[in-house]
Amino acid sequence: MLSSHDLKLAAARAAIDLIEPYLLPGVVIGVGTGSTADLFIDGLGVHQDRFRGAVASSERSAARLRGHGIEVLDLNAVDAMPVYVDGADEINAKLQMIKGGGGALTREKIVASVAERFICIADESKLVAQLGSFPLPVEVIPMACAAVARALARLGGKPVLRAGFVTDNGNEILDVSGLGILDACLLESTINNLPGVVTNGLFALRPADVALLATQNGVRRL
Ligand code: A5P
Repeated sequence: MLSSHDLKLAAARAAIDLIEPYLLPGVVIGVGTGSTADLFIDGLGVHQDRFRGAVASSERSAARLRGHGIEVLDLNAVDAMPVYVDGADEINAKLQMIKGGGGALTREKIVASVAERFICIADESKLVAQLGSFPLPVEVIPMACAAVARALARLGGKPVLRAGFVTDNGNEILDVSGLGILDACLLESTINNLPGVVTNGLFALRPADVALLATQNGVRRL
């Protein structure tokens, strides 16, 4: 019986195999955040001399990349990235995701938006029929927190401030449970349009292109 860590490692290794053809001089790779992304970074470290460097979606991932001798580039210095590799808190059959359990959702969405392909790596427990059991993280400018919380409650959610947590951008996170997410694209747009919201953790308008989901019987590709 493979442990949760073993499954994450299998997904991370499958992603390394998938992106290996891109690891060429001059190429920059987009790298996500979380325990699965950490294992992907460790795998990338083995190949650090084959590509130019990486753009990180968090200070945490940047530090881990540097620890492997991988150059971390500012996104403003990068015109194109062939791939962005990251985990997810939930993913559905359309490859729409909830992300941001680690609080890095805004930078994740920005870096992913520049990449040609989003590769999601996860263990199979993240695959759901309907998004929303995992509370949806919403990054909010601090002065708007109460106003945004009221607006999210009007949408049917139960927002809870992530106590003692500040994002890499200096903002707060509201974790919103109770949202029946039937139309993920509509909800992503609706929440993003609330004044004071920086972004929300729905990745539906721009879903993943490939999901590598580790199971007890191997890695499943969606
Ligand atoms: C980080 O903000 C998140 O979006 C992560 O990608 C997500 O929480 C998955 O993390 P794990 O790989 O640790 O489950």
